[in-house]
Amino acid sequence: MKFTYFVLILALGVTACERRTGQDPALYPNENIRDRQTAFKNIGGDMTLLSKAINTSGAIDINKIKQYADDLSKHAKQPFDFFDEKDKGGKSRPEVWLQRPVFEMERDKFIAAVERFNAAAGSGEIEQIRATFAPVGDSCKSCHDTFKMK
Ligand code: HEC
Repeated sequence: MKFTYFVLILALGVTACERRTGQDPALYPNENIRDRQTAFKNIGGDMTLLSKAINTSGAIDINKIKQYADDLSKHAKQPFDFFDEKDKGGKSRPEVWLQRPVFEMERDKFIAAVERFNAAAGSGEIEQIRATFAPVGDSCKSCHDTFKMK
């Protein structure tokens, strides 16, 4: 009797584990892919908020821009912890691993653009903020063109 309960509990546990990973294992071999996608989504969210705050037809709120720029600079490096050899898949093209030096150059260009933008936001000068925001967006596109699936 006791043994039956034990087996039942074991079976329930296995089912729960399977449900948690409910994605195509060929495309999502491990958690790192989802972690980097979450990190990129956070970056995307920061960019949407920044774009609205910078391109508003109303009054510019410099403090808001500073806050979002700070968030962006905190988030910017996070996805790049999850591109190990074992992390192939997701919406990343194989070129990430085949052209590693180019990928890392795109990453560094992006991080540098974010740092310049964050410094401009800190200065509170709206012209500087506008001038340094565009290159951040360009660096997303430049990397995606080669390394992200459409
Ligand atoms: C150095 C390359 C690189 C840079 C720079 C980069 N990305 Fe990406 N991005 C990728 C790759 C590769 C993926 C695909 C991740 C995956 O699914 O494996 C991706 C995925 C995404 C996703 C989709 C996440 C999801 O799964 O829904 C968003 C949103 C995104 N990036 C936004 C941005 C934004 C906004 C910027 C710039 C502020 C940016 N990225 C800069 C390479 C880059």
